[in-house]
Amino acid sequence: MMENNEEYRLPEHIAIILDGNGRWAASKGRPRSYGHIVGCDNLEKMCNVIGDRGIRYLTVYAFSTENWKRSQEEVRVLMDLFRRYLKRIMKTARRRNMRVRFLGDPAGLAPDIQESIRQLEESTKDYDSMFFQIALNYGSRDEIVRAVTKLADDARSGKLPEGRVTEEVFASYLDTADIPDPDLLIRTSGEQRLSNFLLWQLAYTEFYFTPVPWPAFGIKELEDAIAAYNGRDRRFGGV
Ligand code: FPP
Repeated sequence: MMENNEEYRLPEHIAIILDGNGRWAASKGRPRSYGHIVGCDNLEKMCNVIGDRGIRYLTVYAFSTENWKRSQEEVRVLMDLFRRYLKRIMKTARRRNMRVRFLGDPAGLAPDIQESIRQLEESTKDYDSMFFQIALNYGSRDEIVRAVTKLADDARSGKLPEGRVTEEVFASYLDTADIPDPDLLIRTSGEQRLSNFLLWQLAYTEFYFTPVPWPAFGIKELEDAIAAYNGRDRRFGGV
């Protein structure tokens, strides 16, 4: 196996755009909500697989600032799914010593979901074997605008670290402050675009696109993605 080769590198941080729940369900003659339920179960499974594989950071795009444009019924189903998932995930977090953080603007979410987020972040803040980030009501441009707004406030009141803006200072205002940039981005279900996900953080990330929809993305697909990541020369220094 390639893994015995010293050269085989595991990404430290994988980011995933979870796509294709609806199309997967439709291909089975089932409603879109069924795709989301299976997608949610798969996220729980794959979070464990990725942790067992020794990958310490996992970031997923669960709900974008654009997703509010979906039908009221679909948004309701997704929010109910998040509610249940946020309760379930605490157990996994404890078992895996996994810190859970949210990216995005919680203010746009229902008060009970905001409270679950607050509790989860607070009760897992000292866990440090694995780091799981869930982007919920997230848009990268919105994140950047929120960061700049806060940075401008701090500049006005003289609170800017080092008194000037560097890349590091700017990054510390993003929702991903203290989280290393992803090494590998996976997008499932065939689309090849970023859809406003982590525009700043993905500057040097390897991209992997697969036609497999998220509910069908399993261990083999993960291994294929890691193998592809290994098959490429990583180039830094702007080449
Ligand atoms: C993309 O499929 C998926 C979503 C918009 C929602 C992602 C949500 C989950 C996987 C549920 C679990 C996540 C958490 C954090 C509980 P799509 O609806 O865009 O599929 P389509 O492109 O085929 O229409």
